Amino acid sequence: MLKNNVFAVFLLVAFFISCNKDSDTTTPTTTPTTTTTTTAYNDLWIPPTLTGTTFDLTLSKSTKQIKTGNATKTYGYNGNSFWGPTLIMNKGDFVKLNVKNNLTETTTTHWHGFHIPPVMDGGPHQMIEAGTTWSPSFEVKNNAGTYWYHPHLHEKTHEQLTYGAGGFIIIKDPTESALALPRTYGTDDIPLVLTSRRYNSDNSFDITDHAYGDYMLVNGTADPQISLPKQFVRFRILNAETERGYNLGFSDNRSFYVIGNDGGLLDAPVAVTRVKLAVGERAEILVDLSNDAVGASLDIKAYNANQEFGFGGSEPQTSGTFGSLLNNKDFSVLHINVKAATTGAITAVPSKLTTNTYWKESDATTTRTIRITGGQAGSAFTFDNNTYGFTTINQKVKLNAVEKWTIVNNNIFGHSFHIHDIQFKIVSRSSGAIASYESGWKDTFYIRTGETVSVVAKYDDFTDDTNPFMYHCHFPNHEDAGLMGQFLVIK
Ligand code: C2O
Ligand code: CU
Repeated sequence: MLKNNVFAVFLLVAFFISCNKDSDTTTPTTTPTTTTTTTAYNDLWIPPTLTGTTFDLTLSKSTKQIKTGNATKTYGYNGNSFWGPTLIMNKGDFVKLNVKNNLTETTTTHWHGFHIPPVMDGGPHQMIEAGTTWSPSFEVKNNAGTYWYHPHLHEKTHEQLTYGAGGFIIIKDPTESALALPRTYGTDDIPLVLTSRRYNSDNSFDITDHAYGDYMLVNGTADPQISLPKQFVRFRILNAETERGYNLGFSDNRSFYVIGNDGGLLDAPVAVTRVKLAVGERAEILVDLSNDAVGASLDIKAYNANQEFGFGGSEPQTSGTFGSLLNNKDFSVLHINVKAATTGAITAVPSKLTTNTYWKESDATTTRTIRITGGQAGSAFTFDNNTYGFTTINQKVKLNAVEKWTIVNNNIFGHSFHIHDIQFKIVSRSSGAIASYESGWKDTFYIRTGETVSVVAKYDDFTDDTNPFMYHCHFPNHEDAGLMGQFLVIK
């Protein structure tokens, strides 16, 4: 990245000199010394967008210059050197996706958070062989919110995600569109995908089994900065880590507002100073920069020091399988430079967002309990002592049933639990309160060591007697190792 900056300064200087040659015929100017403006930051990459109802994605190998020296081998969709374009969809549209696999290995593409038929879901069963194209189509039934797509090939999810395969999906709907919220993508509506990586000495990503990276990447950018207008700004934040959780806040501890969870808007904005995101979870937040001076700066930080044991990244070690240079400390996620407001700036928070009718514990007609087991002394984590089976059906749910799933983690570490097909409501946590950043529609949640968490959902619209949906730990290394199960929704 230093190399990039030096190169950028070189280009600027070369440009400056060549401009001067055109405009000044008397004396060539000396090279201006612009290096004092060079910082350690790199401009945050904002993924390009795709809109419409047909979305073409091509997953290919790429490289990205992340560190000084060798470029890092990566994967990206549509020619991007890491990650992929943001797909913008409208609720109610019938969309078709054409996913071409230009890798030399199989992949799948899962539409995380989407309520769609299991054969369209892109789980481990919808394999896209090298050189082929998979073309699912479905109606977008989810609420406006922040979703994502990523590979889900059994035993390969961790590796393909680590190389950079993934992308955001933003769903829009009339309820959200009617609100005075920031929604100019890349200007006052900023997607942030949080990950970290460990590097081999040749600058390649370390893809061996380890829980944490040593250096953060935000949208694939190391040490990122962004200039944002002095007004309300929205962030759509996704944790796409291996195991690390993020306890996010601003460097001056200012309050900000949670407006959305995994499955869409909350009823009303909630003022907070911290949001915790486990792997796979999303939050939409609003922050007020209108009182900041143009030229001022602040950081989004991970306040990850002194978290409870079991929170990913709380371990004290700085190296090894469960260690990281970022463990158990507070560190910068994104450097923000404040610039002038835009025309049409959003300057207030709406008092009301939407009206959700959440499921209650008493709505559930069926209860099932899923225990996190295994994980002792070198054995993999399992659900209910069953390792994942590609053709095993672990649960059968009746179409239109409202079910309470109780996840029990009498085990040695925290996890991130995800269910396909549905958005649920967290109805209880044995450890205490349900936080605002998980009080809305959810598809993924953090479960602490020693905790029991219950969620309620209705399994409607899609039945299939043979093709299952998945539930799993969203730590990709855990799901690859078998902390995954399958359920059918049947008539
Ligand atoms: Cu984000 Cu089963 O996946
Ligand atoms: Cu796990």
